[in-house]
Amino acid sequence: MRKKIVAGNWKCNTTVKEGVELAKSVNELVLTSGAKDVVVVLGAPFTHLTSIVEAVDADRIDVSSQNCAAEPKGAFTGEVSASMVKSTGATYVILGHSERREYYHETSVTLNKKLTQVLEQGLTPIYCCGEALAIREAGTQNEYVKQQLDETIFLLPSEQLLKLVIAYEPIWAIGTGVTASTQQAQDMLSFIRGLIANKYNKEVAEEISILYGGSCSPSNAKDLFSQPDIDGGLIGGASLKAPDFLAIINAY
Ligand code: PGA
Repeated sequence: MRKKIVAGNWKCNTTVKEGVELAKSVNELVLTSGAKDVVVVLGAPFTHLTSIVEAVDADRIDVSSQNCAAEPKGAFTGEVSASMVKSTGATYVILGHSERREYYHETSVTLNKKLTQVLEQGLTPIYCCGEALAIREAGTQNEYVKQQLDETIFLLPSEQLLKLVIAYEPIWAIGTGVTASTQQAQDMLSFIRGLIANKYNKEVAEEISILYGGSCSPSNAKDLFSQPDIDGGLIGGASLKAPDFLAIINAY
């Protein structure tokens, strides 16, 4: 049975103090709500990771960075390596978020280097893909996403691919309040799973968790998570409010 995962992506929000408080609230709510089957991940800024790892129950909440360096170490001012992330106790790394691709010009070449670093450290990449509105309107979203995956994670051997979580996040749905319809999300995730089955095999495809992200909220999570290929969500805005995030976790 593949894992159900609800991962928060806090982006560039919260001070360390606010982040620790948020993490503690989520921790408390998750422990008391008894939502046992869902893996809960908090994707916090680098500066917060160590404190958040200390603030939560390690056997219930996982902590993630939102990026890492493409190089293992050295003269790369301002960068944070995968081994540094690992040393905080975090266990996941979000890679290839559309905001990183768009604003920081991350390409498939960069992302392949980052994937290597993350996998070498034994961390779990949450690898993001997804198309812009113009591509969706042109109806070429499947080809676009396939290319994003062909150039990166589909170059990995199956035993490494199996270590990944994939997140499909249509750019037009991120932070806009416009969620992909449940059918649009299910169709794309089923398409991605089909690609994995073709490229690797059905067993590999059935084992990988694929998440949907983009304006996922307490009101639409139940519908989205009821779909056969949707294994959870990558949650931006709604992950900044502990009760909303819990409601999404409890949508399972
Ligand atoms: P959103 O962001 O939930 O605020 O749309 C999702 C994401 O960017 O991961």
